[in-house]
Amino acid sequence: MATSIQRSVTTLLGPDVPGASPAHPPVDTADEQPDHAGTPGTSEGDRTPANAPAAATVTAPEGTPLAVGVRNLRRAFGANIVINDLDLDVPVGQFVALLGASGCGKSTLLRILADLDTEISGQVRVASRRAVAFQAPRLLPWKRVWRNVVLGLPGRPDKARAVAALEEVGLARRADAWPRTLSGGEAQRASLARALVRDPELMLLDEPFGALDALTRIRVQGLVEQLWQRHNPAILLVTHDVEEALLLADRVLVMKDGVIAHSADITLARPRNVSDPQFVALRAELLGWLGVGHAPSGAAGPEAAGGQPAQDVDHPVQGVERTAQTVEPDPAADTREPPPRRKILS
Ligand SMILES: Nc1ncnc2c1ncn2[C@@H]1O[C@H](COP(=O)(O)OP(=O)(O)OP(=O)(O)O)[C@@H](O)[C@H]1O
Ligand SMILES: [Mg+2]
Repeated sequence: MATSIQRSVTTLLGPDVPGASPAHPPVDTADEQPDHAGTPGTSEGDRTPANAPAAATVTAPEGTPLAVGVRNLRRAFGANIVINDLDLDVPVGQFVALLGASGCGKSTLLRILADLDTEISGQVRVASRRAVAFQAPRLLPWKRVWRNVVLGLPGRPDKARAVAALEEVGLARRADAWPRTLSGGEAQRASLARALVRDPELMLLDEPFGALDALTRIRVQGLVEQLWQRHNPAILLVTHDVEEALLLADRVLVMKDGVIAHSADITLARPRNVSDPQFVALRAELLGWLGVGHAPSGAAGPEAAGGQPAQDVDHPVQGVERTAQTVEPDPAADTREPPPRRKILS
């Protein structure tokens, strides 16, 4: 394991040069500035509190091609150490879901991987072509949908390229629409098209379905799974929805006390069925790690693994009540309810 401390984000799969710029700029970042509010650690000696939970095994075998490789990552905001000696490998093409209590540092980790936060110590290596999508689609209201899709790409805006990406998400017919006329599901699909047009090796998704109604959410989840199967980028999806994580991911991580406290490989065949006994057992196991309910006997819960069960979960963990199974996305059937308020880029 690497022990040297660097403040650098290097690229994998592209030119492996410390500090190298991605081949394409990440999307959805026009209103994001590197955050310099924190106080990164400067020595190894102060990085591990005595009561730190045992971290899960999250490193891939030697030689595995990686989309993300993180070693000894630390991020603090003043005295608040949010990420504390975190290691994580995400192999190329793997779909990873990241769970954890509100405020545990999920978005902080994603922002670091997106190179939006550089006040870190440790080693961070990420694929050079990456795309980011957040809970709010963040479309510029004064640009038509297709122009939003190719926003930030080098060269003249390429409508054909934008329409091809919109086609993939079932939205080509709205290419000339203004963002304010889109439904919430359509806007989120436009955001996915904007990510896809970058042909990303790594997609960083921070609660991208969080603002959608239940039915649209299931449809867009199905769409993301289809796009992943078609293009096979690595995906790191932050979610509070345990079922969503289990329906979509190859591997589900639980973040706690600054590290990846648990990693579960999900080998269930796709499409997955929420009533499958194995699915139910995995859900109970993960809820146990999140401090909600108890893992069933025989399940690999936190105590069995030497970790600490989570407490004081102040964010509602979703997915406990849901009984619907995955359904094929129907791009033509958008909700007609008013779109949610969206953050507008300045
Ligand atoms: N710029 C900042 N300045 C100070 N503290 C910050 C900053 N950004 C994040 N934090 C703190 O870091 C911690 C982790 O925040 P983060 O947004 O990563 O949590 P999260 O796991 O994504 O939570 P949620 O599930 O609610 O989105 C929180 O305590 C938060 O207040
Ligand atoms: Mg967050």
